[in-house]
Amino acid sequence: MEEKKEVRNFKFSTLFFMIRCIFRASPILFPLLIILTILSIGLSAFALFVLRDATNALVDMLNLDATLTKVFILVFLYLFIEIVFDQFIRFIINYTEGHYYKQADRYFRVLLLYKLGKLPQVNMYDSNIYNKYEYTYTYLYMFQQLPWYLIQFAIHFSFSKLLYLGIIFAFNWVAGIYCLILFIINIIASLLITNKQAKVDKENILPTRQKDYYGSLLNTKAYIKETKINRLEGYFFKKFKDLYLFIRDRYFKIIYQETLVNQIISILSFLFNNGLIFLLIYMVYQGKINLGELTLIQSAGMSLVYAAGQFRRPTKYIVQFVKYAPTMIAMLYPLSKEERKEMKERDYPDFSLKLGDFENIVLKNVTFSYPSKEDEAVSGINLKITRGEIISILGYNGSGKTTLCKLVAGILTPSSGKVYFNGQNIAALDKNEYYKYFGIGFQDYAKYSLRLRDNIGFGRIEALDNDEALNAAIGKTNLQNIIDKLPLGVETILGKEYDKDGQDLSVGQWQRVILARAYMGSPEILILDEPTASIDPFEEERMLEEFRDALEYKTAILISHRISFARLADRIVMMRDGMIVETGTHEELLRNKGYYYELFSSQQALYQSEVGGDEN
Ligand SMILES: Nc1ncnc2c1ncn2[C@@H]1O[C@H](COP(=O)(O)OP(=O)(O)O)[C@@H](O)[C@H]1O
Ligand SMILES: [Mg+2]
Repeated sequence: MEEKKEVRNFKFSTLFFMIRCIFRASPILFPLLIILTILSIGLSAFALFVLRDATNALVDMLNLDATLTKVFILVFLYLFIEIVFDQFIRFIINYTEGHYYKQADRYFRVLLLYKLGKLPQVNMYDSNIYNKYEYTYTYLYMFQQLPWYLIQFAIHFSFSKLLYLGIIFAFNWVAGIYCLILFIINIIASLLITNKQAKVDKENILPTRQKDYYGSLLNTKAYIKETKINRLEGYFFKKFKDLYLFIRDRYFKIIYQETLVNQIISILSFLFNNGLIFLLIYMVYQGKINLGELTLIQSAGMSLVYAAGQFRRPTKYIVQFVKYAPTMIAMLYPLSKEERKEMKERDYPDFSLKLGDFENIVLKNVTFSYPSKEDEAVSGINLKITRGEIISILGYNGSGKTTLCKLVAGILTPSSGKVYFNGQNIAALDKNEYYKYFGIGFQDYAKYSLRLRDNIGFGRIEALDNDEALNAAIGKTNLQNIIDKLPLGVETILGKEYDKDGQDLSVGQWQRVILARAYMGSPEILILDEPTASIDPFEEERMLEEFRDALEYKTAILISHRISFARLADRIVMMRDGMIVETGTHEELLRNKGYYYELFSSQQALYQSEVGGDEN
């Protein structure tokens, strides 16, 4: 039901696009191909009659009624029409096809990535989306093939074969029906096998992804050290192999069935060809047809049997399209005019905040649950963030701090409740405009295997090449002494996967880079999620000192499970089990003797005993 609805999203303009792609692939040859196709319909039938005449001329020659030259001319004419013409068409087809595939492939792969990039963040917590993506990526070629194969089908099997069928029927209706049955058997076989194949393909997507995952555990940098130290190679390898065999066995079943069906069809075709020859010889003997007619009918018959086999391919592609396309179309469509345009000419105009000066963000009764999880990660959040404020969100692991910051930034959409930016519901705003207000140092930040300057500059893509902005971000985060130690400074590539001179950073160093990324371009609202998590207490102390200056009276949300962060804040927000349990200044909250007081006392005690321990 749902899939049917999805299909309707497919626009016929896409089919036209595909055909236009084919056109563009060879703008001269493709129209020529169509003209030749129309010509070929008549010509190949004509060739058969030439063959008849050639054969009869040969017979006449034996009776000394015709010359060798006449036979040669006729045979040559037949060969010329049938073979040279056919070969020429084949050349154009192959040439056009090669170009078309390359063009269509580029287009659809870019479109797929583009659409994936447009999906809301929440989809990334859903295994189903990964299945659909993998499925679309793997079988995209089928989607592209259909229009091409329909065109090919029109060329090869079109009216000329119908004409042949007419010839056979006129000659002998039993032979005609036999031919027709062969066609039908081929189509049914193709339907059944393609159907099965499609089902198995769908079932195999998840195991294939799992298999690839185990494979990646054996060759990905982030895992390799633990794989080695815990001696996991054998375990992962076995998982990989078992899944591989499981997937393979499912396909083996289809291969067996397909081979069997092919054999049956092959036997039926053999019987037809030979039966026809016997019938024809018998009729020549009876004087009902001459030798020329024998060759004509025999050729038409052979050609039809061959065509019946070839019928399976277009049938297959149509079935594939019906079976596979709904999922793919749901990934790729609808595609609006604006999106098409954006995809074509995506670049970065001047950075400007189109939603006006930031004044406040208000969360009203915001609740959020992750997909396939009943518990609410945050619930009933009411919070106002005003321009120039520094807010510290504190709470233990799992209390919902990270989720809350993603909701504020519009990366996640509330399950219920609303987020307002300057009084406007952000659900109604252009997300790309909204995102411009934020500089975020994520807890689970991205480490790009690219230059250090890219790793910072990505905080404000529009200023990627702006050295002033880059240096400002570096200055605010004391990154210079790390940069000085790198062989190529900010040009050094981080990570060695794509560059032999790449450098790896320590976790603490990375955290400073992430800080610089968040500061890049001096965002209106800075959000730092556990920015000092991997930094030692002394360094943290220094960083906290720097923070206030670096913030330049801009708005900031600092998230931490460490109480030391509270010092910086104008306001402290205490979180517990997804809810805000207390807010206020340091002094207010201490006076309240509530949750903050509890946390403050216990962490202070911890910290002091640690320091005390050091002194002993
Ligand atoms: N991607 C996710 N899918 C499902 N549950 C999640 C996901 N991320 C976080 N959670 C759950 O949401 C709750 C809040 O998590 P989080 O916001 O990360 O807390 P914090 O940042 O305070 O440690 C936790 O119970 C956590 O298990
Ligand atoms: Mg967190």
